[in-house]
Amino acid sequence: MKYFSYKENELHCEDVPLSELVEEFGTPLYVYSKNQILENFREVTTAGGTSYTVCYALKANSNSAILKLLASEGAGADVVSAGEIHLALKAGFAPEKIVFAGVGKREDEIEYALSKGVGYFNVESTQELQLISLVALRLNTKARISLRINPDIDAESHPYISTGMKHNKFGIEADHAVEAFTTAMSLPAIEVVGIHTHIGSQITKVEPYIETAKFIVALIDKLREQKISLSHIDIGGGFGVQYINALTHEALPVEQNTNGVIVSVKDFLGSILPIFEPTGCSIWIEPGRSIVANAGALLTNVLYLKDNSARKFVIVDAGMNDLLRPSLYSAYHQIVPLKIETYEHEKVDVVGPVCETGDFLARDRMLSKLKRGDALAVLTAGAYGFVTTSNYNARPRPAEVLVNGEKVRVIRERETFDNLG
Ligand SMILES: Cc1ncc(COP(=O)(O)O)c(C=O)c1O
Repeated sequence: MKYFSYKENELHCEDVPLSELVEEFGTPLYVYSKNQILENFREVTTAGGTSYTVCYALKANSNSAILKLLASEGAGADVVSAGEIHLALKAGFAPEKIVFAGVGKREDEIEYALSKGVGYFNVESTQELQLISLVALRLNTKARISLRINPDIDAESHPYISTGMKHNKFGIEADHAVEAFTTAMSLPAIEVVGIHTHIGSQITKVEPYIETAKFIVALIDKLREQKISLSHIDIGGGFGVQYINALTHEALPVEQNTNGVIVSVKDFLGSILPIFEPTGCSIWIEPGRSIVANAGALLTNVLYLKDNSARKFVIVDAGMNDLLRPSLYSAYHQIVPLKIETYEHEKVDVVGPVCETGDFLARDRMLSKLKRGDALAVLTAGAYGFVTTSNYNARPRPAEVLVNGEKVRVIRERETFDNLG
């Protein structure tokens, strides 16, 4: 995370000291680096060394300013609801580069997508396929579709974000793939263009992707024998990012990296794209996390310190309603002080104000010794951060700001009581 760094013991985002943002905008506050987003996007688009289409997964972060930035860079969009189609179009994404996935598309959403001319649907069941055909017939149009096939491959990520195994709700079971493609070919208002897989998120090893790529190529060969030829392959997203030791400084504790070395996007793409070459298909990818995660941080203030005989608690003003990932799947975010004032460390639980024992940002964590009023940055919070906020406990959602060099722009105002109903 090049664009979050300590300069003279003060954490900056690009050229802006984060403590100034805390003073001006209060906490909790999401801060994003424009240049980190751009750099990540450009890396993803060039890392493979060949030509492929990058559809940014809006679910990772759908702030309109960020969407506009990526649309202006020529990104396509991976969406999972009519709402995300609306946001993508409003931000300027080309409709033909919008791909519509999701296991539970409603009829009105299918109709909306068709009326807006989205590129194609990633279809997750035969019933959905039949409904899309009916809606397309009614609208006197043809729906371009890929079938999302579940390859039953373990992405070795957290169970809640592993999506490519038999017992997951996603996609069509591999054993039924040929049958599903045959059905799709027989439907009047359906144009079959490709195959889609997405085996999970925060994937840190290349092997599950290689296995999936080989599975896809074998399936394409099998389909060709049945005279079904596909023109494109969509391999989804999922490239893992570094959450642990994302930022280092001699005053910070060194975090234990349980994830091992995280493979770079270049290595991910470098090992899978050549496998697809013989198919002659165009390649589509749908990264979310790898574009925005390390471009964002959540800033929060220490409200109180509390020791009991079992634990030391650091109570902060950001709760699970502001960043759900730790509570939802014990996700790890490095937490660092905005100002380095000590080299002393201690083991604490960082907890929020929400009335749930599961409301925590870190547990059993060595952190720099803190005091009431210190400001902290929860790092690598740009993906699946703000998008999962809620008003739980009647807490207004935080503001979001975008930093570009020395410039700071509010890209979402802090909510007020008016937003609570
Ligand atoms: C179908 C699909 N595509 C793309 C993504 C983006 O994944 P990531 O943010 O891990 O790149 C997801 C997220 O889980 C997804 O479900």
